Amino acid sequence: MSKDGWTALEEAPTFALAALFADEPDRLSRLAIEEAGIRFDFAKTHLSRAHVGAFLALADERGLAARRDAMFAGEIVNPTEGRAAEHGAERGQGAPDSVARAAGRHARMRALIDAIEADAFGPVRHILHIGIGGSALGPKLLIDALGRRAGRYDAAIVANIDGAAFEEAITGFDPHATLLVVASKTFTTGETLMNARSALQWLEESGVDDPYGRTIALTAAPAKAIEFGIDETRILPFAESVGGRYSLWSSIGFPAALALGWDTFESLLEGAAAMDRHFRFAPLAANAPLLAAFVDRYYANLRGAETRAVFAYDERLRLLPAYLQQLEMESNGKSASLDGGAVGRATAPIVWGGVGTDAQHATFQLLHQGTHLVPVEFVAAIEPGHGLADDHHGELLINCFAQGAALMAGRASDDPHRFYPGDRPSTTILLDRLDPPTLGALLAFYEHRAFANAALLGLNPFDQFGVELGKAMAKQLDDHSAADFDPSTRALLARAFGEAGA
Ligand code: F6P
Repeated sequence: MSKDGWTALEEAPTFALAALFADEPDRLSRLAIEEAGIRFDFAKTHLSRAHVGAFLALADERGLAARRDAMFAGEIVNPTEGRAAEHGAERGQGAPDSVARAAGRHARMRALIDAIEADAFGPVRHILHIGIGGSALGPKLLIDALGRRAGRYDAAIVANIDGAAFEEAITGFDPHATLLVVASKTFTTGETLMNARSALQWLEESGVDDPYGRTIALTAAPAKAIEFGIDETRILPFAESVGGRYSLWSSIGFPAALALGWDTFESLLEGAAAMDRHFRFAPLAANAPLLAAFVDRYYANLRGAETRAVFAYDERLRLLPAYLQQLEMESNGKSASLDGGAVGRATAPIVWGGVGTDAQHATFQLLHQGTHLVPVEFVAAIEPGHGLADDHHGELLINCFAQGAALMAGRASDDPHRFYPGDRPSTTILLDRLDPPTLGALLAFYEHRAFANAALLGLNPFDQFGVELGKAMAKQLDDHSAADFDPSTRALLARAFGEAGA
């Protein structure tokens, strides 16, 4: 009887990184993939040739290619919510009908941007975007990454219900030149609706004639936005089959498209489409998102690593770790498999990280000498994104490469305090440049990596029921029904709000 995929993997021996480089002379050509202006180098991980073979067998056993094709065909791949997952269609990769509908919605989005630029909304210098989770993190990342020099408007993104976030966002904004954008797939999210009401009140109290007339909604629930008071002509819908954390390509990307220009947004979509094609059509053994998922599974399931650290050696990508936290932890931080049984093995790692070189002087101590096994991911761009002399960028890249090499090589010493064990894994993702298409390809790579991980684990990456319980309990407290809560929570309520509770 042939072994199942996981058993074969568990039995495959693990070798030290140095031994793998010595024994597998073709390692770089197999494990470093160039695609869409990005080099994905998985060579400094412990994936041996045997591991890759066993993971390919597991992918086959799990029907990964068929699941991928079903996703791009617009089939129901999110069965717990009875939905397709059609973020690919937003960039032209999907079922023809879905692609056509997405193109139609993009045309509306573009027409609205043209109207704003032609002063149909009066003067607009500031964009106040309100949304949370997937309705905030994508546009925020895009504007931060690509808008440092080219941003045509000041854009502030408010997510948190903490009024401090709102106050900070409007500081320096002229209400008479502010466009309000309310982004919510469901248009029911408490934080977003409360912040939207505060924004409308701010506009009104500042003497803006028609605050609703300066408000645009981005949503998959247009009826709810209309109920909220936003006119249909200023609602940019997107498909329910586009998940929140996969939605920056849809009308949720509107503030980025406005701030950075339509051409930039379109190039971003084209870059993502290039990665979609790679994921769909490249041989599985040379498929970047798939190999990345093999690395993820190897460390999580065969070596017990509980986290993965992502360091952007590029200030423009400083929000990438936060973006990936939602993408990966909300997608795959689950215990139930597609058929409702237990997955029975570790799922999404805890994703954390920061920027290099800052992190070298803070968390890297643990990476080099600590007791945890942490697969590290470096992300950098060959071209600088600033006008300072090249030596800054040269040093930045050298530091990045040196860290990966040091983690792997380690250093012997008789002094235990100065001993570096080495043999510590890293992946390097090196962009030619951080331009719109390359960023699009990079983000699509991460989406497909999450999908591939889910397929290997047999879980649904597109629902997020884990976030519901806390929301429901907050609502219960809001409704003053604290009696059912535990003594600790009741005491906190009494301390904060007095005996009567919230
Ligand atoms: O609470 C989780 C979540 O549902 C995310 O999945 C989503 O991106 C976010 O809330 C915001 O939801 P919405 O876009 O519907 O306001």
